[in-house]
Amino acid sequence: MPQTEKTFPRWIPLLGGLLGSTTCGLLLYAFSVFIRPLQAQFGWSVPDVAMAYALICLIFGLMTFPAGRLSDKYGSRNVVLVGGIIMAFGFFMVSTITPPDPAVIAAGGDAARAAGKTPLYLLYLYYGVIAGFGGGCVYLPPIATAPKWWPDRRALATGFTVVGLGLGSFVMAPMATGMINHFGSALPVFKYVGIAMGIMVVLAALCLKEPPKGYRPAGWNPPVQSSADGLVKCCRDYTYEETKKTPQFWLLWVAYFCGSFAGLMVIGLIAKHGIDAMTLVYRAKEGLDAAAVIPEDVAKSIAMSASLAPSTLAVFNAAVRIMVGPLADRMGTKKIFVALFALQTVAMLILFPAGKTAALLAACAGLIGWNYGAMFTLFPATLLQYYGPTNQGSNYGLLFTAWGIAGFCGPYFGGKLQAMTGSFFVPFIVAAVVLAISVAILATLKAPSKIPVIEA
Ligand code: 2OP
Repeated sequence: MPQTEKTFPRWIPLLGGLLGSTTCGLLLYAFSVFIRPLQAQFGWSVPDVAMAYALICLIFGLMTFPAGRLSDKYGSRNVVLVGGIIMAFGFFMVSTITPPDPAVIAAGGDAARAAGKTPLYLLYLYYGVIAGFGGGCVYLPPIATAPKWWPDRRALATGFTVVGLGLGSFVMAPMATGMINHFGSALPVFKYVGIAMGIMVVLAALCLKEPPKGYRPAGWNPPVQSSADGLVKCCRDYTYEETKKTPQFWLLWVAYFCGSFAGLMVIGLIAKHGIDAMTLVYRAKEGLDAAAVIPEDVAKSIAMSASLAPSTLAVFNAAVRIMVGPLADRMGTKKIFVALFALQTVAMLILFPAGKTAALLAACAGLIGWNYGAMFTLFPATLLQYYGPTNQGSNYGLLFTAWGIAGFCGPYFGGKLQAMTGSFFVPFIVAAVVLAISVAILATLKAPSKIPVIEA
C-alpha cells in the first residue's frame, strides 16, 4: 500500500544531509592548511602529518559500511547522532595535545623528533581514528535516507546530501587559515570547530527520519517497470545479499576505486605542481639555473597563483554534486558517467603542461573538481537505479569502501612516484591510465535484471 506523509516536510532530511555533509567537509578536505602550522609547532615532517590524513580517509571510508548497515536497521538519525558526537569529540581532542617545548623543536635533531612522537600518535588517534570513525557514520546514512523521501528526484536528493563536502571545505580553508593567523597555532581551530561540529551534527540528526514503507509524494506514481520477459509489471528491490552477488556491483567498486585513486592523488599534488612548473618558467625566462635563489616576492606570487587551482577545484567539486542530479534523474547515469570519466582522463593528460600558467592550471583544476565531485552523486544514484532504495545504506556503504582504500593509497603512491621520478609527469600519466580502465568498465556496464515480485 503506498504511503504518503502529511506532517513531515520532505525537504527536512535534505537539510539534515546538507548539514551532516558540511561537517564532513570541515573534517576532511581542508586538512592541507594545517600541515605547515602543525609541523612548525610539533617538529613533524610532511609525511608524518600526511599519514594522519591517509588514516582518516581509510577509517572514514571503511566505517561507511557498518554505518550503512546500522542505518538500514536502526534508522539514520541514531547512527548520525552517535557517530557525529564521536567525530566532534575526536576533532576537539586534537586541541588538547600538548606541544613540545618550542626551544627543543627549534633546535631540531633527535631530541625534537623524540619530543614530537607521542603528540603525533595522539594526532593519529584523535583525528585519524576517532574523528574518521565518527565521520563515516555521519556521511553515509543521509545518502541512503534522503532519496527515499524523493523517489521522483532521487539523484538530486543524493546531490543535496553530499554537496556539503564541497561547501564545508570551501568555508574551512580560509576560516582555519584566519584562525591560525589570529591564534598563532592550529590547535584552537580544532577546539572551536569541534564544538561547532558537535552542534551541527545534533541538528543534522534531528532532521533525519525514515519515510513510511512504500512512501510516495502526493500526486506521484512510480513509472511502470517490467521484467526482462515483459510479463511481470512490477519488480522488487534487491536485498543486500543479492546486490553483493551481482558482477555489476564489483565493477562499480573498481570504477569508484579508480576514479577516487586518480582524483585524490592529483588533488593532493596540484598546488605543488603549479609552484614547481611556474618556478621553472620563471627561471627559464630570467636565465637562472636550478641552484639560484628565487626572490621572496616572486616565490610568494607564484604560490598565490598556484593556490587558485585548489580553490577552483573546490568550487567545481561542490557545484557539480547538485547540478548533475537533475540530469541523472532525467537520462540515467551511464552516459554522464562515461563522458565525465573520459573528460577526467583527458584532464589528467593536459595537467602537466597546464601547470606552467596559473589560468590554465586553474581551468584544468576546475575540470578535475567537476568530474571528481560528480562521482559522489552518480555512484549512489546508479546503485538506486540498479538495486532500489530499500538497502541503499548497506549497498552504498560497501561500495564507498573503494573511496576509503583509494584515499589511503592514492596520495601515498602519488607522493612516492613524484619523489622517485622527480617530476609530476609520471603520477599524472598513471592517473590517466587508471581512469581509462574505469571508462572501459562504465561504458560496457549493463544494469542487472529486475527481480519480479512473486505473488503469494
Ligand atoms: C566526498 O567528497 C567523502 O570524498 C567523499 O563526498
